Amino acid sequence: MSSPTVLKLGGSVVTEKDQPETVATARLDELAAVIAEFDGSLVVVHGGGSFGHHHASAHGVSRTTGSRDPAAARDITNAMRTLNDAIVDALADAGVPAVPVHPFSVAARDSDADLSLPTASVEAMLDAGLVPVLHGDVVAHAGEGVSILSGDELVVALADAFGAARVGLCSAVPGVLDGDGDVVPRIDSFDDVAHLLGGSDATDVTGGMATKVRELLALESPAYIFDVDGVAPFLTGAGPGTRIGQSSQD
Ligand code: IPE
Repeated sequence: MSSPTVLKLGGSVVTEKDQPETVATARLDELAAVIAEFDGSLVVVHGGGSFGHHHASAHGVSRTTGSRDPAAARDITNAMRTLNDAIVDALADAGVPAVPVHPFSVAARDSDADLSLPTASVEAMLDAGLVPVLHGDVVAHAGEGVSILSGDELVVALADAFGAARVGLCSAVPGVLDGDGDVVPRIDSFDDVAHLLGGSDATDVTGGMATKVRELLALESPAYIFDVDGVAPFLTGAGPGTRIGQSSQD
């Protein structure tokens, strides 16, 4: 299998983050048209936005704190499946061979909160020329019931498993911003930017920009954080937004 590109569409990009369970239809359609132009092996992951996070906070579930209430698991995973349906449909309408993949059915977290994500099915889909579309979800978590599995964790697990060619995170902001609001072009160490990375301003049970940067720094693949305008340049091989890590690969 050729190394896939992994692209995450942040929840704040594909949903109206302050309106419960509302898809950002026009933005999603624009993104789908851009993704349809990509010629290569691609995995898409999307976040929760206004579909996932409010159910998660209503049930008191986070990445580390689980719930044993089956209604919590159902509310969160069903909302995410609804969003996934909308995203797969938009991609399919644009001509992308997109198919849904629901992580709750296959992933697990052990008692150290480490994730295991079987990837044979995703690999077989890629080999078949399909574009698997995974989503942030709940995950059965040893000793905790179910906890939240973020799209960013899925990106890291998939990039690691497949040795991704490139990783892109499309978020609401054009990259990691410095104190003047300008994009930091490159981050090689968390300490260099720790002072810039506060929390996320909307309800985000999975940690915001600081968590993204930490996780992307640990990857072997070059990773970029950009906004909607960065998706086309990213998919055509440019380096929009903030590049994270992998200074040896220039
Ligand atoms: C969150 O995934 C998934 C749920 C809350 C179920 P992410 O943390 O990747 O979502 P966004 O991109 O921040 O919205």
